[in-house]
Amino acid sequence: MKFKEIKNNIYYCGLNDVNRKYFDELIPLEHGTSYNSYLVIGSEKTAIIDTTYHPKTEEFFNNLNGNNVTKIDYIIANHGEQDHTGALPEMLKKYPDAIILTNPKCKENIMEMLLVSEDKIRVIADGEEVSLGDKTLKFIYAPWVHWPDTMFTYLKEDNMLFTCDFLGAHYTFDNIYAECDDKLYNGAKRYFAEIMMPFSPMCRKYVQMIREMNPEMLLPSHGPIYKDCKFIVDAYADWASETGKNLVLIPYVSMYNSTKEMVDYLNKKLNQKGIQTALYNVVDGDLGELATALVDATTIVIGAPMVLAGPHPMIVGPAYLINVLRPKAQFISYIGSYGWGGNLFGKLEEFLSNLRCEPIEPLLVKGKPKKEDFEKLDKLAESIYTKHKELNLL
Ligand code: FEO
Repeated sequence: MKFKEIKNNIYYCGLNDVNRKYFDELIPLEHGTSYNSYLVIGSEKTAIIDTTYHPKTEEFFNNLNGNNVTKIDYIIANHGEQDHTGALPEMLKKYPDAIILTNPKCKENIMEMLLVSEDKIRVIADGEEVSLGDKTLKFIYAPWVHWPDTMFTYLKEDNMLFTCDFLGAHYTFDNIYAECDDKLYNGAKRYFAEIMMPFSPMCRKYVQMIREMNPEMLLPSHGPIYKDCKFIVDAYADWASETGKNLVLIPYVSMYNSTKEMVDYLNKKLNQKGIQTALYNVVDGDLGELATALVDATTIVIGAPMVLAGPHPMIVGPAYLINVLRPKAQFISYIGSYGWGGNLFGKLEEFLSNLRCEPIEPLLVKGKPKKEDFEKLDKLAESIYTKHKELNLL
């Protein structure tokens, strides 16, 4: 495959992985993913920014060979995760004179995870510049989007910012430039939900920084390159904001339809009041949809029956995921049904201890919901309506 020139001796040398179905063995990938890598040929030195996922090494090398890349002076490791550094050990054998440029935390990671030898790594400081002759690379530490070792690389003369995982998308493409449509927007949002949402305050910081830098192009390590930087920067500003939308997320599981009846009734009542809802059946749902709904939800209502004196096991994993993703939701409630007793909501609250949500009166029903239970669900819908109204969400 002939490398595509982005601009003035800067080439895209990444790969699509159309067959990858899950990332982190957690969130399904609707569109596969790409592992982006960029070749920067200066008048004196050549650098490659990030490499590839280890199983793609052979294809990556075939492409380097096919494009006559015989010399690499610097390998920039913007982040230590193996989807970008997996080929590093083989790269160092293929290009024995190459030196890895990275930050101290990434150095530690690639030494521990990939057994890279210390003498092959040169640590660069935050803000340090390295000349390639007629091109200058500037390194900007960007911890916590999404690992502590993350950094950006800025190509000064060309005003191009390589943002590592930040602003990325699990997406494959033929056109390396973003077609800024709904499909990409949704793919990037799903990626944000899984990978960046826990670090929303840091996302807001780097959004601001990028707006001030005003780069000509944004080049992430997954997904297409943005010439229309505003598309993805504005999307991140919205997703990472502290304010949710007029949306109630209801993850639920039901065994004998009692909890489901409550969920359906509450859902109908909320919709009648002009509140949007996202129902998510945890038994056969796509965790990516759950995570994506969390980006916007102002309220979460968890529906679950009791099993052996505690929450149904199928709700536990999603509750744990919600907890670690640290969404912006401001209100939470619980509805559920039981047969003989136990601790349902107390256990769920323990799983969701990271959330800083105001609780709304939950509803626990023995067996099927009855007239007085539906009246309580009316009250729950009214409480949520009032909360959303107070926030000017409807
Ligand atoms: Fe795409 Fe955090 O690696």
